[in-house]
Amino acid sequence: MIHVRAEVERSSRIVMEKTLNLKIEKFLSKIHDIYPDKYFEIEKYFYNNKPVTFRVNKLKLGNNSIEQIINNLRNKGFELNDGPIKNSFICNYRKAELKLSETEEFNDGQIYIQGLSSMLPVMFMDLKKGQNILDMCASPGGKTSQIAAELNNECFITAVENNKKRYYILKNNMETLGAKCVNALYDNSVTLLLKYPNLSESFDRVLLDVPCSNEGSIYLHNSKSLEKWNSKTAERLAKLQRTLLYSGISLLKPGGSLLYSTCTYSIEENEQVIDWALKKFGNLNVQKISVDLKNSMPGFTKWKKDVFNDQLANTIRITPTELFIGFYIALLKKTTD
Ligand SMILES: C[S@@+](CC[C@H](N)C(=O)[O-])C[C@H]1O[C@@H](n2cnc3c(N)ncnc32)[C@H](O)[C@@H]1O
Repeated sequence: MIHVRAEVERSSRIVMEKTLNLKIEKFLSKIHDIYPDKYFEIEKYFYNNKPVTFRVNKLKLGNNSIEQIINNLRNKGFELNDGPIKNSFICNYRKAELKLSETEEFNDGQIYIQGLSSMLPVMFMDLKKGQNILDMCASPGGKTSQIAAELNNECFITAVENNKKRYYILKNNMETLGAKCVNALYDNSVTLLLKYPNLSESFDRVLLDVPCSNEGSIYLHNSKSLEKWNSKTAERLAKLQRTLLYSGISLLKPGGSLLYSTCTYSIEENEQVIDWALKKFGNLNVQKISVDLKNSMPGFTKWKKDVFNDQLANTIRITPTELFIGFYIALLKKTTD
């Protein structure tokens, strides 16, 4: 009996290993298709976890300077270096017993742990004090609080989240981080206009950091990270992303801009979504964005048999490195005529 059980367990382990290896092969072959010239340079980054990175939250500095907060953390045993993005820091090593997320600085909201790629989108939003801003997919609120800090709370942010548990996380985070200009809303961003018709074309800026297939966060040495991934995920999510984008454009003021971002490589969730919006709405332009990073490249203007609008070259792709995960960013402007 024991032998039979052991044999069944052994066979199911072999099947699981085979399925995982097949998935890894499929994933890497997809990456090779997308980045044939960069593949051998980037493949290794799918096996390396990134160091912990964070930004200092200016809303909770109190009487401290950024340097003081960084020195306090260094005195607790954290080895910190400046990151490649304004106000970002890299935690390379800790002698400390504590994790960064267990420190007083983290619990008081003086620092916010955030990936470097995730800090990029807000930098392109051309934020100005007094703006009315909508964050359509907000939790846990990394980018919401980054906007609030950038504008020193002198703006109005409506931050929407449709997952109850994540909505409470968002609310808590905004409180901890002192983001007082944020009105967190437990709602579905797809149907906002139906529920609140007066919101039509009312926002100066819209941030649409969509739910995506998360390929940027896949690490192949961790079997869990590939669990939800399959070759159909991107297609399914692209439908939701288009509906969210349709809603966001309807809520955006003429002259205003919408920032679209994903942490995934799939063309279906990136260039194809933006190309679809350009065809659907005649009043959109893709604004040129760029960042001084070696791992940034223009979005694709063609993919297999598809030819996209030339303006797709104004969007950016961030390819993975030892510090960055894969990301895609597009900035759409609604014309005034
Ligand atoms: C990529 S995460 C957002 C991360 C966030 N922007 C940040 O920087 O911290 C996407 C979020 O959108 C939420 N979401 C998905 N569909 C939504 C919808 N229809 N309306 C509002 N939120 C939605 C998900 O629950 C998830 O929390």
